[in-house]
Amino acid sequence: MTATAAPQHVLVVGGGGRENALAWALARSAGVKQVWVTPGNGGTPELEGCIQLAISEGDQDALLKTCQDQRIDLVVVGPEAPLAAGLADRLRQAGHAVFGPGADGAQLEASKQWAKALMVEAGIPTAGYWKANSREEALSALESQGKPLVVKADGLAAGKGVTVAESVEEARAAIEEIFAGRFGAEASLVLEERTHGPEVSVFALSDGERMVLLPPAQDHKRIGEGDVGPNTGGMGAYAPAPLLDQAGLEEVKRRVLEPTLAALQARGISYRGVIYAGLMLTENGPSVIEFNCRFGDPECETLMPLMGPEFAAVLLACATGQLEKAPTLTIADQCSACVIAAAQGYPGEIRRGDPISSAVKNGADRQLFHAGTRLDDAGVCHTNGGRVLAMVAQASDFDAAFAKAYAGLEQVHFEGITYRRDIGHQVRNH
Ligand code: AMP
Ligand code: GLY
Repeated sequence: MTATAAPQHVLVVGGGGRENALAWALARSAGVKQVWVTPGNGGTPELEGCIQLAISEGDQDALLKTCQDQRIDLVVVGPEAPLAAGLADRLRQAGHAVFGPGADGAQLEASKQWAKALMVEAGIPTAGYWKANSREEALSALESQGKPLVVKADGLAAGKGVTVAESVEEARAAIEEIFAGRFGAEASLVLEERTHGPEVSVFALSDGERMVLLPPAQDHKRIGEGDVGPNTGGMGAYAPAPLLDQAGLEEVKRRVLEPTLAALQARGISYRGVIYAGLMLTENGPSVIEFNCRFGDPECETLMPLMGPEFAAVLLACATGQLEKAPTLTIADQCSACVIAAAQGYPGEIRRGDPISSAVKNGADRQLFHAGTRLDDAGVCHTNGGRVLAMVAQASDFDAAFAKAYAGLEQVHFEGITYRRDIGHQVRNH
């Protein structure tokens, strides 16, 4: 069997840290000549082999035109919103190879009700749930349970749609807030049993029929050291997370990912992209907290440096439904550590527009990926978002990897820089 070719021209859609890391990994993949990034961020021009284009992720016409003008062989869509809006469908209809599901498959993330129904149908372990399409239905489900349930708004909520209620009162307030919010009386939601255990993120690259698993990663959602305080987009991560050894990962594949792919196929969906399973490792085994239709952020920044030179060819094979012909994806046998440098105030009201200085260059074992940054007209890089930078480092053990990442952060400055000093506390000897 001949291996599928690597793409020469790649387009990465998105402007966060995830896309900065994806572009970096794709540009260094074998066979790739040029990567375009739209809209990218303040770190894009520094990436070797990458060109930044000022096109927003929602501008399907302009993205299609770029695919044609630049003779793009592979499009990789980073964020969930353009996927849920059908960007991959539009580009595929025009004959382009896209890594990222169509709007149908993106419902795994875009609709909690849809994802829960799929999980139950496929026998995938997940917390028990009640769906509600009106305020009254939701409140009555809550009252009949008489205990605090987890409240999840249906639809894309940019990580802000979940309340893990400590009391019935708090759950009731979360329900009221959803029906008073953006979608008003039209809102819908899912109420869930609360489960307990450590959380881990698993990523499967799929061509619609087959899959390749990446090493599991653990995110740190809370803003505060010791995992306290408000939820954020993620303050740091490490991989491979020892929480799931090879046998554990196999179990997740067998009990979660393969049945998910089969259930998608049964719905007539050829899912060509990444299935991100957010898992809780409960005393009864892995339980799916949520599915996402994209790479996790900052898990992606953590994982990309571990990817071998076949990465671009593997994504192209997923995009064209030919994973069986792809070269085997080699994954470095190293520990990768990622610490997010956030803006002062994050995840609340943030400082913005502060100049960033950094002496760190992207190298083989340490990378500074940009997230919420932008260049001004004079070419000076400024803070422009809550999560500003991701410092990532690799070594043969986690202590050394985190030491390298934290030493790197000492060389980065912007007013109000905020980061957790305890990322990886689960695997580090203090
Ligand atoms: P996010 O979707 O990022 O806002 O965060 C969801 C978080 O809520 C997860 O990372 C879990 O920590 C928590 N969560 C979601 N569902 C449950 C559940 N059924 N039981 C306990 N915690 C949950
Ligand atoms: N790291 C969590 C997320 O990407 O949703």
